Amino acid sequence: MSVVVLKNIGTLVTMQAAMKKHGRFVLEKDLSIKKNQAVVLKDRKIVWIGSNHKLPKISDSKIKELNLNKMTVLPGLIECHTHAAFVGSRSLEFELRNQGRSYQEITKAGGGIHSSVRGIKKTSLKSIADQTSKHIKNFSRQGLTTIEIKSGYGLDIKTEVKILEAIRLASKTTSLATIIPTFLGAHAKPKSFETHQDYLEYLAQSVLPVIRKKNLSHRVDIFVEKGFFEKDAAKKYLLEAKSLGFDLTIHADQLSLSGGAELAVDLMAKSADHLICIDQKNINSIAKSEVTAVLLPTADLYMNCKYPPARKLLDSGARVALSTDFNPGTSPSQDINLVSVLARATMKMTLPEVINAWTVSAAYALGLECKKGAISVGYDADLSCYESDYTDLFYQVGLSSCSSIFSMGKWIKF
Ligand code: NIG
Ligand code: FE
Repeated sequence: MSVVVLKNIGTLVTMQAAMKKHGRFVLEKDLSIKKNQAVVLKDRKIVWIGSNHKLPKISDSKIKELNLNKMTVLPGLIECHTHAAFVGSRSLEFELRNQGRSYQEITKAGGGIHSSVRGIKKTSLKSIADQTSKHIKNFSRQGLTTIEIKSGYGLDIKTEVKILEAIRLASKTTSLATIIPTFLGAHAKPKSFETHQDYLEYLAQSVLPVIRKKNLSHRVDIFVEKGFFEKDAAKKYLLEAKSLGFDLTIHADQLSLSGGAELAVDLMAKSADHLICIDQKNINSIAKSEVTAVLLPTADLYMNCKYPPARKLLDSGARVALSTDFNPGTSPSQDINLVSVLARATMKMTLPEVINAWTVSAAYALGLECKKGAISVGYDADLSCYESDYTDLFYQVGLSSCSSIFSMGKWIKF
């Protein structure tokens, strides 16, 4: 049993009111900021929050006391959409796109996702885990204490299982973050299958039950897009996944309005991600639903396409999260400040909305809203600590002002 007392916190951004509002219509007051606070952590949970001067004197030698020197403390940040289990670079593809080739053309010609698949197939499980661990470190250094990682560069049972096992190995060998694995077998159709439907049937019948049995993931994602997996086939597959007990998430309406958001609402998915091409009708239905809208503007920057309608989503009452979409093709950047500055400057999200996006909304996107995303008694002991004022967060691209984190109670200094 370990108890850690955090004294002398200058500004505690608890997010309690934002959590009560389920991450919708978040204003500055919903950040529930408290000054001169102390927090007590015990057995990986937050057990006490209060004024610094009300902290009872504790004299037990087993108790560790830390003076946070007036720092700003937020909930540990949450990255809810990454493809961080990959090897190698796709910088040549970036050059091709900049010179006029489309993402779809490159994929059709055997590049894109398929080139990452070739890379993964030649790499050992241990080495994939090592690369993934490096990516986890780069995220954690920015204050992230929960990171979702998708498979999807295997596209057959053996290689998809290998990736998920590599993610599990990386997760077991780190105390930097809680890792949430997601099965994205339905990322692209491998050449060996005639049709997308055939491949989805194979995934549903032969792969999903194995993933479940080996307990490698409880989440299923799919790329719903013209030329990839179309709406009707995707629906059948997702219903099968749901009946096996998987939570659902969808790459939706990224390159065209292809029914992904509609499907997410219909099937009560945890999140619909990208949403660049979503229309007002689907904005309204997402806003009324429990589906979290996850926006990934770095991918839009690298793909040189328009940004998603964040203001329309937020003003309609949708819960909006942000994420890097970190992957070697459409978003080879792990910088959460770049995501956030794009969200603020081009999508006109307010700073409180951005803070909410990385905490409360991202927790909802992963179904973790009862234990992560806010600083509250009973919540996981996940915190991120900054020397700067909270108003200086998500402002400077390229550097993070996070100086330490607590990840499930463990203190990690940078
Ligand atoms: O979120 N759009 C589909 N999947 C990824 C890209 C993956 C890749 O190109 O490797 C995305 O943008
Ligand atoms: Fe993605």
